Amino acid sequence: MVATSLAEAGIDSLVLLGCGKMGRAMLEGWLKGGLPPAQVQVIDPCPSDWLKARVAQGVTLNPAELAPATIAVIAVKPQMMTQAAPRLAVLAGQGPGTRTLFLSIAAGTPIATFEAMFGAGTAIIRAMPNTPAAVGRGIAALIGNDATSEAQMAMAEALLGAVGQTVRLDSEEQMHAVTGLSGSGPAYVFHLIEAMAAAGAAAGLTPDLAMRLARATVAGAGALADASPEPAEQLRIDVTSPAGTTAAGLDVLMPELVPLMTRTVAAAAGRSRELAE
Ligand SMILES: NC(=O)c1ccc[n+]([C@@H]2O[C@H](COP(=O)([O-])OP(=O)(O)OC[C@H]3O[C@@H](n4cnc5c(N)ncnc54)[C@H](OP(=O)(O)O)[C@@H]3O)[C@@H](O)[C@H]2O)c1
Repeated sequence: MVATSLAEAGIDSLVLLGCGKMGRAMLEGWLKGGLPPAQVQVIDPCPSDWLKARVAQGVTLNPAELAPATIAVIAVKPQMMTQAAPRLAVLAGQGPGTRTLFLSIAAGTPIATFEAMFGAGTAIIRAMPNTPAAVGRGIAALIGNDATSEAQMAMAEALLGAVGQTVRLDSEEQMHAVTGLSGSGPAYVFHLIEAMAAAGAAAGLTPDLAMRLARATVAGAGALADASPEPAEQLRIDVTSPAGTTAAGLDVLMPELVPLMTRTVAAAAGRSRELAE
């Protein structure tokens, strides 16, 4: 049960900087998971109607002075970081019973940027989540700086675990590849749906019917791959009869897809490196 794990991990108060697509997806999961609204402070200059409705439930919006918090989650765009994040500096070195942990989900903003803002001894975890967090099916990769304790890593895992799975990285350098794969990946899958629907229409279906079939096929195959103990390769082999229809399709797709996807992920990872500079 998420509520137990958030409380057990010691998360009793939280500041969220930026409540856009990712911030909202996560906050929705945390509140559903039992984080008391009264323990949440949100900073966002243009609050959405959804966020305003959470204020009615007890969430504090844009306080003049931030109350101490166990964890501060940074979810603004990297371009806004130097303008937005210093607002949290008051929390560095504070926190009820422990020092505030900073958890950034910003693509391409290195831990060193936050160490420069908040002090090198500040516990900072960098994470890369993805938008399926909005339906509790995200996956987030995490790495902490030297000042981060194991208890604080567990805290961040509990928080991000409330909206999906978590994995730990060995080095911050891996964050670029993670960004290119799982961070940007949902958009690749959405485009796969578009491409399959267009291909179905080209093969003679109406566009609506083709889209319905494509969307359900990608969602269903994803759910099957997730639920099955078999690796994806075996699932593919299981549904490919020799000289059958699937084999004919894969003969076209397979030689192209791996090099294409390799270039796709490399381009996104490269952009992440550029943003970091
Ligand atoms: N979306 C993804 O798939 C994804 C995946 C992984 C990581 N991320 C990372 O998550 C972060 C947020 O992305 P997003 O897609 O959620 O972006 P977003 O929808 O634009 O959300 C950012 C939010 O921050 C607000 N904001 C702007 N200036 C601010 C300030 N000075 N103080 C406080 N809040 C401020 C924005 O308000 P306005 O709208 O009024 O500007 C907006 O509500 C980014 O760093 C991104 O790299 C995103």
